[in-house]
Amino acid sequence: MSAALRLIRRMLTRRITLAAFLLFITTSQCSTRNDSPFALTNQATASCLVKRSIRCLEVRWTTGDRLFVTITKKCLGAQGKSVGSEVSLYDCNDSDLQKWECKNETLLALKGQSLYIEVKPDDSIALSRTVGPNNKLTITGTASGACSRTYRELYTIGGNAFGKVCKFPFMYNDRWFGDCTTYDSSVKRLWCAVETKYEHERWGYCPTNSNEHWAKNIVTGAFYQINTQSVLTWAQAEASCKQQAANLVSIIDPHEQAFVSGGKQKPVIQ
Ligand SMILES: *[C@@H]1O[C@H](CO)[C@@H](O)[C@H](O)[C@H]1NC(C)=O
Ligand SMILES: *[C@@H]1O[C@H](CO)[C@@H](O)[C@H](O)[C@H]1NC(C)=O
Repeated sequence: MSAALRLIRRMLTRRITLAAFLLFITTSQCSTRNDSPFALTNQATASCLVKRSIRCLEVRWTTGDRLFVTITKKCLGAQGKSVGSEVSLYDCNDSDLQKWECKNETLLALKGQSLYIEVKPDDSIALSRTVGPNNKLTITGTASGACSRTYRELYTIGGNAFGKVCKFPFMYNDRWFGDCTTYDSSVKRLWCAVETKYEHERWGYCPTNSNEHWAKNIVTGAFYQINTQSVLTWAQAEASCKQQAANLVSIIDPHEQAFVSGGKQKPVIQ
């Protein structure tokens, strides 16, 4: 077989493998990670955990074990760490009073404390140390607790955050953002801050499924994203790749090596 023919064959095989892999990643991502918002209900009182007048509001898990209310851009927080401390909505901060964890599937406890959210008969919400039907919180319309949903944790690309995860919500120009935004981006590309108050101006672009900003190897037709600035473990880098419907690769093929070895540092390639 001539060299040219071999090259064409390689190109074809590569395209097919990549296509198959992208498809695989996309499907597995959808079925295993559900980071969508949800409403929580207490059956005993037939009451929603978070509501505005009579409407139930949705929450979702966000960085720092917090429960973030998508509409009001506030976080669920306790007033203190004792029995009877009121639980309500606050501006999001990094305090322990806004960190939650699940216990026995349907209980929500202040993280590291044996204090559980309880919906009182008068609909007020407070922390309790004893557990009964008023502590059980399930995702509306299901029998599952809040921890059947996962965190929205997005690894940034580029920017100046070394690949850190987006901090949701973050405050920028006196405005709260609960998701990636193109606000103030001259190139209209989605970005996020990696700190709540944007005091150190640390930010990065958000993962998407587009390969618009990727480098294309014209020989093989494959797309690469080379993140020499990212400080991530293999598992974190892999999560970052999956968020972009891509695959983390180790370079063993000499052609791939030649393509990416423009970088001198050991690169994390996605
Ligand atoms: C953080 O939020 C809690 C409520 O969960 C509040 O009590 C506390 O004062 C806030 N801390 C700061 C520094 O704003
Ligand atoms: C969780 O379930 C276990 C086993 O049923 C029980 O012993 C424990 O007390 C429960 N914890 C809470 C906080 O209800």
